[in-house]
Amino acid sequence: MYNLLKGKKGIIFGALDSKSIAWHVAERCHEEGAEFTLSNTPVALRLGTLNELADKCGAEIIPADATSVEELENVFKRTMEKFGGKIDFVLHAIGMSMNIRKGRTYDNIDYGFYQKSLDISAWSFHKVLQVAYKLDAIKEWGSIVALSYIAGQRIFYKYCDMADAKALLESIARSFGYIYGRDRKVRINTISQSPVLTTAGSGVEGIDKLFDYADKTSPLGNATADDCANYCVAMFSDLTKRVTMQNLYNDGGFSSMGMSEQAMEVYSKGIDIQ
Ligand SMILES: NC(=O)c1ccc[n+]([C@@H]2O[C@H](COP(=O)([O-])OP(=O)(O)OC[C@H]3O[C@@H](n4cnc5c(N)ncnc54)[C@H](O)[C@@H]3O)[C@@H](O)[C@H]2O)c1
Repeated sequence: MYNLLKGKKGIIFGALDSKSIAWHVAERCHEEGAEFTLSNTPVALRLGTLNELADKCGAEIIPADATSVEELENVFKRTMEKFGGKIDFVLHAIGMSMNIRKGRTYDNIDYGFYQKSLDISAWSFHKVLQVAYKLDAIKEWGSIVALSYIAGQRIFYKYCDMADAKALLESIARSFGYIYGRDRKVRINTISQSPVLTTAGSGVEGIDKLFDYADKTSPLGNATADDCANYCVAMFSDLTKRVTMQNLYNDGGFSSMGMSEQAMEVYSKGIDIQ
């Protein structure tokens, strides 16, 4: 432990159970001396095990559907009330696609579901930022991070409308990052994380194969939820004060790879068999 977040206060959105990336981030932030509130939907609070995390970290839970501006305002107001003023960091770890859940393909999308995917997985980030900005809730040099995936830039079979949501999420980080940096010296970044077998991750059909492919393709192997938590701690700390408006890959090198030696061998064998 480095006490990197000693005295810092924040909000962590999106921890459902111990597999959640946000859960690991919360544990690491707690270890590094931060205090924070936790937020998730009322349904998630019933189905998940967030109370356990709250007890462990001494954190208050503030329920909110992140698509509701009013409920987000409550999360920020209550958090500021609790900590007696502005806060230092926010994690947005929220994503959901009904099109993926229902096994719909990108060429047979349900537009009601599509709108929901974008609202939950991307616009909710804009809402978090706009609420924070209007309430002037974040201290100078504060840090806001949202979790993304490389399907925002490249094609990953079965990722469907979540690819569009991630592209939008990353764009929102840049667009708001300019305004928030210019006006209040607050930084906004996305971390593009390797596949992790969480509840949201497991919704993508064939995630086990994608996980294995990414792991074997990445020279350092897949980044785990704990690796992501460490990166978030670094991004919330004062050591990264002038990093903003970036999509930061935490993926063991995957995003820079084309064809690996191992993949070439496997592919050649496949051709021989045919
Ligand atoms: N698991 C992966 O492979 C992977 C890879 C890269 C990025 N990510 C991203 O990480 C983030 C966290 O996902 P995870 O993999 O830890 O899965 P998870 O299922 O544990 O977390 C997703 C969270 O979103 C919450 N959520 C859904 N709808 C919501 C709403 N309307 N309001 C508030 N919260 C809502 C869920 O309750 C849940 O806690 C997501 O943005 C996801 O896309 C995941």
